[in-house]
Order: sequence, then structure tokens, then C-alpha cells
Amino acid sequence: MNAFIRTALRSLLLVSLTVTTALADEARRDLIIDTDPGADDVVALLLALASPDELNIRAITTVAGNVRLEKTSRNARLAREWAGREDVPVYAGSPRPLLRTPIYAADIHGAEGLPIPVHEPAKGLAPGSAVTYLIDTLRAAPPKSVTIAMLGPQTNLALALIQAPEIVKGIKEVVVMGGAHFNGGNITPVAEFNLYADPHAAQVVLASGVPLTYIPLDVTHKVLTSQARIDKLQGLGNQAGKTVADILNEYVKRDMEHYGLSGGPIHDASVIAYLLRPQLFSGRSVHLEVDSREGLTFGQSVPDWYDGLQQPKNVTWITEGDAQGFFDLLTERLAKLR
Ligand code: BDR
Ligand code: CA
Repeated sequence: MNAFIRTALRSLLLVSLTVTTALADEARRDLIIDTDPGADDVVALLLALASPDELNIRAITTVAGNVRLEKTSRNARLAREWAGREDVPVYAGSPRPLLRTPIYAADIHGAEGLPIPVHEPAKGLAPGSAVTYLIDTLRAAPPKSVTIAMLGPQTNLALALIQAPEIVKGIKEVVVMGGAHFNGGNITPVAEFNLYADPHAAQVVLASGVPLTYIPLDVTHKVLTSQARIDKLQGLGNQAGKTVADILNEYVKRDMEHYGLSGGPIHDASVIAYLLRPQLFSGRSVHLEVDSREGLTFGQSVPDWYDGLQQPKNVTWITEGDAQGFFDLLTERLAKLR
């Protein structure tokens, strides 16, 4: 082969490699994960952090919710450390909801927000607030390019939208773990925790007109653990499988007992599974309203399932999920971690 042909072939190879990388980058979803870890949040984070081929995680932003902000921020950094993904920045956001008195869920997640031993991770928080990060990032983003996985109370995004409503143009979609309708609530008879913890924030996000998908208790209470499914994670033989199995063995106990379920839900992880494998889930476009009036229905989600109000549809409300498909995906991805 003469020198000319060799150089031409090398250039061709380089061009094709560049094109392949650009196409792969284009296929990856730009994602910000807003979260209040929380046991199920940590499982969701590990699933996302183990999926770099599909998800370009720009940042994790934290909010007060299951426990106070210092602890949710520490737990988000722990998940990042466990996944070996210290390249992903963690920004701390709002220490309290927009208007209501703060509530926490330490009875479900443990005093530290996790039912396993915790430590202070080596890598700290990124400088600056999560709200400023959201504003700056979404303002600079190409139109409809960034997805937000919303795994806790929606306070950070609501604050960002109040300060800079134009950032809505940078958002591709927001996928929320929140709400309950057919299933009934988990913090009151009708309200789900994330909406109850900051219903005013959920209303701000709804009113912004951003494309929204809701993963409510209606579906998360169908995607349940079983001892065999947890044992399979344990059996992976790596640290990630053991960590998630240890978390789940404790975390699911209370829900199994309280609801008389055969296994426990891992609510927030369904948001990430939905982003990775939407075909595992199904639902319907509906008009949704969130109640923030004081009283029995505070924090209740009201999806107009039969379109009785004839109002514009503002969310996709998911009701069905393939539980085995979810656990196959979780097991496959956790196997990739250390
Ligand atoms: C939601 O509330 C929190 O306790 C969980 O982390 C999840 O986001 C379920 O209602
Ligand atoms: Ca959560």
C-alpha cells in the first residue's frame, strides 16, 4: 500500500470515528436529576449513573424532602461515589418548600435518609446553588434539549421558573415521581409524599407548560420487589448489587407491612427506567391539577382520567409498568458498576 492510500484510509477512519461519536452523543439524553435521597432515590441514581450510553447526566441537584438538605446532599454524593462517577457534579438546592411547613420522611428512610451505614464522601458539593445552576444551564441550553428527572419535591425547579420563566424553552421534558390517584396516597389517604411536601412547587411547574410525565403511586405500587429479585441483585457479587440489596431489604419492610403488599415499591427508580426503556410503561394524556387548599385534600393530585372537565391535557399519567422488565434492567445495569 503506498503512502498516499495509507494517509487517505487513515483520514477516512478518523472521519467515521468522529461521526460515530457525534451520533452516539446525539442519542444520549442530556439529563439533570433533581432528588432528595432517600433510599429509592439512591437506587434511581445508581441505575442512572450505570447507564452512560443513554444518559448524559449533566448534574445531580438536591432538595430537602425525605430528610434535611445536608443529608440529601450527602446521600447524593454517596451514590455518586458508590457508582464511581465523581465526574458528575452535585449542587445543593432549596433547604425548604416554597410556602408550607417542611415535612420529612425519616420514619420511612431512616434518620440519615438511608437504612444502611453512611459516611462523609471524599468529594464535596459543586459551588453555587442548584437553583442558579438550573437557571444558567437551561438558559444556555439549545431549545427543548434538557430532560429533568424529578425525584423529590419540585421546589428547585419551581424557584428557577419563578425567577427566570424563559428557561422553560431549554427543557425537553420533566419526568416526575409524584402523585397518586387509583392507588390512594402514602402520606395522607389521598396525597403522595413529593406533592404533599411541596404542592405549590408542583403547581408552578404545571403552570409553566413544560412537557410533563407523572410516575405516580398508581404504577410504582405495581413494580414491586420480591425476595428473589433482591437476592439476584445481591448475587451480582459486586459492591453496587450488595448496597442496593441491603437498602431494599430494609426499605421495603414498612410498605409491605403497611399496604399488605407481596413486595415493596422503589418509586424513584421507575423514573430512570422510564427514560431508559419507555416501552416498559404505559399511561394516558390527561389534565392534572394539584390541590394546595388547607384540609383533607392538601397535596392531592387530581388527574381527569375520563376527561370530564374537557381541559387541555398537561401531563402523561403513567399507570402500568412491566415489573420483571424493570428488575431485569436494574440487575443488568448494576452489574456494570464496581
Ligand atoms: C416518594 O416520596 C419519597 O419518600 C420517595 O423518595 C419518593 O420520591 C414516594 O412517595
Ligand atoms: Ca425521592
